[in-house]
Formats: sequence, structure tokens, C-alpha cells
Amino acid sequence: MSGPFGGRRIALGISGSIAAYKAADFASKLTQAGALVDVLLTKGALEFVTPLTFRSLTHRPVITDLFDINSPDAVEHVAIARDIAALIVAPATAQMITKVALGIADDPLSVTALATNAPLMVAPAMDAGMWDNAAVRAHIETLRERGALIAGPGRGRMASGLHGWGRLLETAELLGYAAMLLGRHGDLAGRTIVVSAGGTSEAIDPVRVITNRSSGKMGYAIAEAARNRGARVVLVTSAGLPDPVGMLVVRVESAAQMRDAVLDACDGADALIMAAAVADYRPAAARADKVKKEEAQELRIDLVRTPDILSEAPRDVVRVGFAAESRDLLANARAKVAKKQLDLIVANDITVPNAGFGAETNKVTLIDRDGNLDDLPLLPKYDVAMRLLDRVAALLSARVGKRPHAGHAH
Ligand code: PMT
Repeated sequence: MSGPFGGRRIALGISGSIAAYKAADFASKLTQAGALVDVLLTKGALEFVTPLTFRSLTHRPVITDLFDINSPDAVEHVAIARDIAALIVAPATAQMITKVALGIADDPLSVTALATNAPLMVAPAMDAGMWDNAAVRAHIETLRERGALIAGPGRGRMASGLHGWGRLLETAELLGYAAMLLGRHGDLAGRTIVVSAGGTSEAIDPVRVITNRSSGKMGYAIAEAARNRGARVVLVTSAGLPDPVGMLVVRVESAAQMRDAVLDACDGADALIMAAAVADYRPAAARADKVKKEEAQELRIDLVRTPDILSEAPRDVVRVGFAAESRDLLANARAKVAKKQLDLIVANDITVPNAGFGAETNKVTLIDRDGNLDDLPLLPKYDVAMRLLDRVAALLSARVGKRPHAGHAH
């Protein structure tokens, strides 16, 4: 299975919090994404959820007791510590965080945490107030210093009715952090990649805009794939999709704002990938007041060119453009490589069903500056992103004098 989780063995440790019910959805989504999920439940967790819940969702043994020698699963935890690609503690209670930080090993989860060399992700969940406690914070810092990825907590309403920091992150966010954990020493580690996504909106008046059909899915897939290969990612977006975790997200609306944000982010970056559908024209002047329909039977709007962002991007950054075309795909894309001085262009055939704007899949041909073609089949946008990043990684390593930044960590 493609994606960051296909075939990866992950131990999911669940400690005693009401948020344990959310871990069922997380375990299910990890399994659906192709991971082999071994669940470890503490005694506290068993007060909230049952082993059967997780056995049914993961189709794998669930470990609950360190000392039950009659259970074939009891000895499993030793093998788990050795064989897993990652240990994820979600939800992690204040008590479990303390145990793992201090090396106390008295239940299957804390024993596995002590025994494993696999990367660790901790997703805290506790009542408001506890997260602010100095003891909890000190233990979290200890874990972070040892290389653990701390995912959350989020802010909001607690089961107790209190509001504050301490909510377990939502499943989509946990999945994002888990993917990032698995890939943090990937081939783009130490690289900074700027990605643009979405269609820009150019104001006509305070109410109306000129925009296009870009959903942002292609750009977000690239940003997430780059993060999952270890890159530091800056996503400059005008799309309405939720912020992906583990990257800097800069929200913009117009082409002019996107230009400023992209050029800012390019300072010190290694690559720029412009998947955004940037408006080529904007109204010459946005009206200060709403245009009233009584004004005239016809309305004409003067349009002027927007700045070409790719052409302005610094030359020491690997520059990748997209070309969404409905005819003469390859000729138009080749012309853009030359005109915008690109290292690579993604020629996007938007006439193919289920490709281009708004679709989950895409049909593209990669064209480099020497004119070499790589015609990819119709693929999920994440897979297109991975194939594109293979090329970006190769272009980056071919560049002399620009090595990945040492010591980068998320
Ligand atoms: O967002 P989705 O719904 O997932 O759809 C994805 C997509 C179809 C938007 C995407 O795959 C795509 O093809 N994006 C480029 C859209 C396009 O038509 O670009 P263009 O041919 O107008 O521009 C060529 C390149 O120059 C693009 O990389 C563009 O970002 C860049 N550009 C364009 C105008 C401008 N003023 N500055 C730019 O840098």
C-alpha cells in the first residue's frame, strides 16, 4: 500500500484517559492506511475501552497484562519493542508521561517505552490545569530533549467541562504527526521546501473576488509528502483546507500576498514548488464599496497583470512550476520551463477524467530543463507528490555547495 504507513509496524500505547475512546478511531485509520498496529492498554485505559475494541479494529493481538503468563500476548511486548518502526503513546496521561520520562517500567506500555529504540511520539491528554503543572512540563521537556515528538495537546473543552490546553489532538492531526515521525530522517531531512497551494482571490469589491477552481489538494499533498520525508516545510496557501501539522502555514488571499509570502519564505530555502493556481490578472483597482447592480446594465472590470512569482524566485533555489493545460500540454509546459527559467515543470493534463482541479488523483508529465519527459500514470495526488519529490531530492543532491542543514530537528 502507498502512503507513509503502508507495511509499517507501529505500537500504539493507550493510557487511562477518557480520550482513550478517540484512540479507537486513530487505530482504525492507521490500520486502514496499511500500518500493522499493536495496541498496548494500561490498567487505567481498560477502565475506558476494551481490548476487543482494538482487536476488532486492528485484527491484531492487544496487550494488557505484563504478568499473565497464560496469555501468548504477554511475551509479545518484548518482540514489539524490538520490531516496531515507532511507538506512539496516545493518549498519554500525566502519569504515563512521568513514568516514561523517569524510566519507570511497571506495565506493558512503560516497559515497551523503556525497551525500544524506535522513535517515540507522545500525544498528551489531561484535564486543564494539569498541562500547566511544572512537573508535567519538566517531564515533557525531558522527553523532547531525548528526541520524542510531542504531538499537542490541543485547546478546547475537556470532559470535565473546563476549557483549556489538554485535549488529545484529533485523528487527522495524530496521523500527520505519526507520518512525520516515521519519515523525519528521510532524504529531505535538513532541507527547507516552500510549497504554494490553492487558487488566489483577486478582489473586485469588499464582497466579490475573481478566483479559480483550485482546491489546494495537490499543493497540500506535496507539502505533507515533503514533511513526511524529513523536510522543513513552509506552505503558502490560499486554499480553505485545514492546516497540516508539522509545518509553517502562511495564509494568503491574493497573488500579491502570495508573492510576498513566497519570496520571504524562499530566503534560505532549498526548493520552491508552485502548485498554486495564481491569478494572472487582477482588477486594476478593488472598489472600496460594494458594486450596486442599479449602477449600470453592464459592468466592465479592467484587469491588470499580477507579478509572476516563479520568475522572481531566487536562482539558488530549485524552482518547480506547474502548468495546468487543456490543450498542447507538452508544448505549453516546455515554453513555461524556458520562460520562467525552471528546473522542472509538472505538466498537468486537466482534460483527463479525475485529474487536475479538485480531484483526488492527478495525471502529470514531469519535464526537466533539458526537455526529458517522465510521463506518470493517473495516481493519487500524494503519490504524484512523492514522484515529484524524488526528482527534487535528486536535483538538490546534484547541486554543489548546498548541503542539508545539520542538526535540524522538528
Ligand atoms: O489545487 P487542486 O484542486 O489540487 O488542483 C491542482 C492544480 C490543477 C491547481 C495544480 O496541479 C496545477 O496545475 N497548478 C498550476 C496551475 C496553473 O495553471 O498554473 P499556470 O500555468 O497559470 O502557471 C504556471 C506556473 O507559474 C505555476 O506553477 C504557477 O503557480 C506559477 N505562477 C503563475 C502566475 C503567477 N502570477 N505567478 C506564478 O508563479
